[in-house]
Amino acid sequence: MIVHLFVLFLCSKLVVLSGARLHGNENDRLALLALKEGLKQNPSGALSSWNNSNHVCDWEGVTCGSKHPERVIALNLSNHDLQGSISPFIGNLSFLRKIDLMNNALQGNIPGELGRLHKLQFLNLGNNSLHGAIPANLSHCSSLKTMVLEYNQLGGAIPVELGSTPKLELLALDNNNLTGVIPPSFGNLSTLMLFSCMYNNLQGSIPKELGKLPKLEFFQASANTLTGMIPSQLFNLSSLFYLSVGKNHLHGTLPPNLGIQHMNLQVLYLTDNQFSGPIPASLPNASSLQEIDLSLNNFSGKIPSNFGSSQSLPVASPAFGFQSASRHIP
Ligand SMILES: *[C@@H]1O[C@H](CO)[C@@H](O)[C@H](O)[C@H]1NC(C)=O
Ligand SMILES: *[C@@H]1O[C@H](CO)[C@@H](O)[C@H](O)[C@H]1NC(C)=O
Ligand SMILES: *[C@@H]1O[C@H](CO)[C@@H](O)[C@H](O)[C@H]1NC(C)=O
Ligand SMILES: *[C@@H]1O[C@H](CO)[C@@H](O)[C@H](O)[C@H]1NC(C)=O
Ligand SMILES: *[C@@H]1O[C@H](CO)[C@@H](O)[C@H](O)[C@H]1NC(C)=O
Ligand SMILES: *[C@@H]1O[C@H](CO)[C@@H](O)[C@H](O)[C@H]1NC(C)=O
Ligand SMILES: *[C@@H]1O[C@H](CO)[C@@H](O)[C@H](O)[C@H]1NC(C)=O
Ligand SMILES: *[C@@H]1O[C@H](CO)[C@@H](O)[C@H](O)[C@H]1NC(C)=O
Ligand SMILES: *[C@@H]1O[C@H](CO)[C@@H](O)[C@H](O)[C@H]1NC(C)=O
Ligand SMILES: *[C@@H]1O[C@H](CO)[C@@H](O)[C@H](O)[C@H]1NC(C)=O
Repeated sequence: MIVHLFVLFLCSKLVVLSGARLHGNENDRLALLALKEGLKQNPSGALSSWNNSNHVCDWEGVTCGSKHPERVIALNLSNHDLQGSISPFIGNLSFLRKIDLMNNALQGNIPGELGRLHKLQFLNLGNNSLHGAIPANLSHCSSLKTMVLEYNQLGGAIPVELGSTPKLELLALDNNNLTGVIPPSFGNLSTLMLFSCMYNNLQGSIPKELGKLPKLEFFQASANTLTGMIPSQLFNLSSLFYLSVGKNHLHGTLPPNLGIQHMNLQVLYLTDNQFSGPIPASLPNASSLQEIDLSLNNFSGKIPSNFGSSQSLPVASPAFGFQSASRHIP
């Protein structure tokens, strides 16, 4: 009896194994087929290789692992002219490390089931037509380093929970319809290097907690309706080389020692706000400064005389215009 059961067990194993060799991991295959069902393709049929006479690992845009050769570890369908929506079944692809669906015409919501992908390191859903809110569940993606959701129609507030995504390094939310504030909880993202949220409807002030981010290099929050002052803690971040907050309703003065304190600053865009007071005489001493735009503010006094002598700053830089509008990304 036991031998019988054992043989039965072996047989079922064999069936599973040969099934796997033909089609790949069944869990992943079913999840991808559900994903395909939700997507609508262009007439050229980008997903026609996603069929049963073809091993899953040979499907267009699908990459399987080497350690786990039957499991799907990457999905790249960027620039495939895809419409339709992202099926919640994507959350069953539990070995996924990379998702790249950039430059399509996907609609619908971002499924919260993505939060089940604990190996996911890279998520790019940029340049689609995704709607709805950013799911708070994305913060459960405990390996996630890169999250790109820019150029969609996402609305609602940025979830406070995203501040507890443990490994996040790059967060791009530009060109959406996000409202509410930049969550102070983002001060917990100790690995964050790049945060970008330009062209949204964000309000409130820039949280001083961001000044706790030891790795922050790039902060871009232009073209929102932010108010208040730039927190002095942000000016104190030695890692920061790009600071852009143009086209907001910010006010306040610049710290007198900005250029000395901030040796690594390369880009400073403050255009089209209500900043006032003198332009710090120390600014030309920020030797790495390459571009600066202070136009359309209420600065007073004179332009520091030694600006022209700075080696790194372009001579007669048109960016340094008080009257002319910015030619740069604000
Ligand atoms: C299945 O995919 C293969 C590889 O792309 C292709 O040659 C074949 O025509 C497809 N079969 C069907 C029924 O679409
Ligand atoms: C996805 O594929 C495109 C085109 O082949 C490539 O440029 C892009 O880097 C890939 N994405 C990832 C995350 O590897
Ligand atoms: C796959 O995903 C669907 C949709 O989220 C869910 O209902 C189902 O339980 C999942 N299946 C497995 C095996 O995890
Ligand atoms: C967005 O994707 C479309 C293709 O779907 C492409 O034509 C367009 O250039 C992309 N836009 C950006 C800003 O990358
Ligand atoms: C959000 O995450 C929690 C915990 O991981 C999970 O129980 C829940 O099902 C997720 N929600 C969705 C929509 O997947
Ligand atoms: C942006 O959101 C507002 C409501 O918050 C809505 O009225 C408007 O239509 C949205 N715009 C787009 C482009 O989605
Ligand atoms: C995250 O930040 C908030 C606000 O700064 C703080 O109250 C909270 O304790 C932090 N949470 C964690 C898990 O670090
Ligand atoms: C910024 O740094 C200076 C000196 O490096 C220090 O005196 C000041 O207290 C700091 N400000 C904040 C708000 O951390
Ligand atoms: C800036 O540097 C110059 C030397 O290049 C120095 O003479 C000047 O005192 C410095 N200015 C400030 C405000 O530290
Ligand atoms: C600009 O600054 C002057 C004082 O230097 C002040 O009287 C005026 O109200 C300010 N204008 C704006 C729009 O803030």
